[in-house]
This record gives sequence, structure tokens and C-alpha cells, in this order.
Amino acid sequence: MNTRSILLAYATRYGSTQEVAETIAATLRQAGLEVDIQPMREVRTLDQYDAVVLGAAIYNARWHTDAHQFLSQHQETLRQRPVVIFALGPLSTGDAAMLRSRRQLDRELEKYPWLKPVAVEMFVGKSDPSKLNFFERLGSTASDHRRRSEAEVAPPAG
Ligand SMILES: Cc1cc2nc3c(=O)[nH]c(=O)nc-3n(C[C@H](O)[C@H](O)[C@H](O)COP(=O)(O)O)c2cc1C
Repeated sequence: MNTRSILLAYATRYGSTQEVAETIAATLRQAGLEVDIQPMREVRTLDQYDAVVLGAAIYNARWHTDAHQFLSQHQETLRQRPVVIFALGPLSTGDAAMLRSRRQLDRELEKYPWLKPVAVEMFVGKSDPSKLNFFERLGSTASDHRRRSEAEVAPPAG
């Protein structure tokens, strides 16, 4: 059987989505899959990949701009590949925060009715006030609850 080749493309402002993307890539490689990991904005073509994993964080209820750009730019190929989506967002592990972020992501994904992801996952985000500008700091508090979410990362079944 040929090794399945997967592109894991991520978009990040402050680095936490990249950290989660690297954890997922390592887990998939351990499962025997061939994984290329790249920032979304550096991806030129999806031709050589059998499946695509897309990860980006939510800011002010909007998915990272690079993710929107990626979906528009690669729409034709993405229609023909299995796509898995993950997002980072909630800054607490509570159900309400998780649900709120998931709704925000769902609303963003509704803009692409052609997109039929095989899985959509929400991971708890990380926020470091020292990295934020004044306006961003106003709406954010420091937290990092990702240990739990990273432990939940597992390769897709089948
Ligand atoms: C200015 C700002 C606004 C944010 N707004 C949201 C939001 O509306 N919904 C949400 O779920 N998470 C929100 N977050 C949390 C981020 O998604 C989280 O911090 C994430 O880990 C950032 O990813 P990055 O480090 O890859 O940039 C916000 C974070 C910041 C700094």
C-alpha cells in the first residue's frame, strides 16, 4: 500500500496554532502517515497530497484571514480531497466557551457551502498578554489550557 501523503497547513498570529499543528503532525507521522507541515500562506499547490488538514485560530469571532484566503485560492483542489479542519479559540476549558467558539467557527465555515470537511475540531487556545497590542489586551486574559486538548489529538480512524 502507498503511504498516504497529508498536508497540514496552519495560520497563526502568536504561535499557539503552530504548536498544536506540530503536535498533530507528529501524531500522524507516528501512525505511519507522510505529513508536510507549512504555513498556509506558503502553500502553492495541493496536487501531491491525498488529504489536507487545515488549522487556524479565531480572533474576534473571525477565522484567521489566511484560512479564508487559502479556502478561496485552493477551492478547486479542496473539493476533491478529504479535508480536516481544526481551530484554536476558547481560553477556558468550559463547555460554554467551547460552544461559543465552535459556533463562531461554524459561522465562518458556512461561507463555504462547497466545503464538506470529514472532521472539524476545536482546541483550547493560548493567550499571552505581553504579546498583544493595547486593543487586543483589553479583550483578553492570560491562559494556556492546551495540555488537555493536545492529549485528545489522535490520528483519524481507518
Ligand atoms: C485579540 C484576540 C481576540 C480573540 N478573539 C477570539 C474569539 O472571538 N473567539 C475565540 O474563540 N477565541 C478568540 N481569541 C483566542 C485565540 O483564538 C487564541 O488565543 C489562539 O490560541 C491564538 O492563536 P495563535 O497563537 O496561533 O495566534 C482571541 C485572541 C486574541 C488575542
